Amino acid sequence: MKNNFNNSVKVNSKGHLEVGGCDCLELAEKYGTPLYVLDETMIRNICREYLQSFKKYYDGNGLPLYASKALCCMEMCRIAKQENIGLDVVSGGEIYTALKAGYPAEKIHFHGNNKTVDEIEMAVEAGVGKIVMDNLSEIQRVNNAAEKFGKTVNVSMRIKPGVDAHTHDFIRTGQIDSKFGFALETGEAFEGVKEVLKAKNLNFTELHCHIGSQIFDIAPFVAAAEIMMDFIAKIKNELGHQITELNLGGGFGIKYVDSDKPVAYEKYMEAVSKAIKAKAEEHNIPVPYIYIEPGRSIVGEAGVTLYTVGSVKEIPNVRSYVAIDGGMTDNIRYALYGSAYTVINASKADKDADYKATIAGKCCESGDLVQENCMIAKPDDGDVIAVLSTGAYNYSMASNYNRNPRPAIVMVKDGESRVIVKRESYEDIIRNDI
Ligand code: LLP
Repeated sequence: MKNNFNNSVKVNSKGHLEVGGCDCLELAEKYGTPLYVLDETMIRNICREYLQSFKKYYDGNGLPLYASKALCCMEMCRIAKQENIGLDVVSGGEIYTALKAGYPAEKIHFHGNNKTVDEIEMAVEAGVGKIVMDNLSEIQRVNNAAEKFGKTVNVSMRIKPGVDAHTHDFIRTGQIDSKFGFALETGEAFEGVKEVLKAKNLNFTELHCHIGSQIFDIAPFVAAAEIMMDFIAKIKNELGHQITELNLGGGFGIKYVDSDKPVAYEKYMEAVSKAIKAKAEEHNIPVPYIYIEPGRSIVGEAGVTLYTVGSVKEIPNVRSYVAIDGGMTDNIRYALYGSAYTVINASKADKDADYKATIAGKCCESGDLVQENCMIAKPDDGDVIAVLSTGAYNYSMASNYNRNPRPAIVMVKDGESRVIVKRESYEDIIRNDI
């Protein structure tokens, strides 16, 4: 492996892969596999880069929110708190995790296309900073919950700006055919705004949009920001209501394989803030406070998953299956989206990657593959296999299929490691069985 994938992984003097200064073989030995490993320095640096770019290009007039769906656990909530960034949550479970971690409720934004009444009441009672409403039915539900607790609730509305961000179909959410948010083109969004303004217990200050995920282009973000500013002006001009905050969602692409070329966050912020300021001037409206919601780009590249090879099955003229002790239960993204990953034989990281391997999981399912036809150094049984950029949407989408316990998460920093999420036990597996 060349030593230039990112700042987190490198090959050490033993020829092993190292992450955050820790030898992957030693981590595998100490904590067992499969194992999620996260580089703390990288996560914190990215949070700081986001904050810095707000200062540099937007006079600090905004806040990045960590989209915790990418990886939600108490330690990630603590890191978000320590790094002074906000939190985007999408379920009662994520709210619960954040509150238990001591994350301040007022910095939480609550999303979701079908929040239950229980979840809405939980959010209102806890005093979450903002509820981002997705549909007409929800406006009423949030208003009712506010009334029940005798509170005025700060709300936002998720708008579909109709921007096609050219990403994978499953994760494209900005266009009109999406289950998320109010459509602009059909007039649904404008009708929604009128309904929100009628609701007695809601304080409506923000509009939100999110155009997709794993996006490398700056242009669709700029287009979405402009469309949203036009809509803010329309609301002001036609309904006399001034929206003062704009949430532009997440979606910034990361490097999974060498051909991925992520744009520096600064560049995004520079372009978007320019567009917003120009639109504010054009419409003679105030420059809004802005939020963004990066999830994948905060934790994705900081994560590496380690596995142990159990067997290599070479099928002449067909392919070679390298069987690992995890699979779709800890990383469903290849099975679900065909996502590309960089796979490295961590035990032989200094050797040429000249063996074509299909990395197969241990579930009773032919589609349980983590990657097909990738090039790694020829593996032997017992070798440690590393899959890079697995910090986002891996643990958070993990399952117990075949009653496999979920792996532990270990945080690494400057050569030290600590468990932040324990490995599930068989006892955990039967915990709710009666
Ligand atoms: N804000 C909203 C409203 C979102 O819907 C999402 C992601 C984000 C922020 C964070 O986006 P990010 O910065 O992470 O791209 N499971 C899929 C990704 C689904 C993303 C859904 N929404 C995957 O594994 O690729």
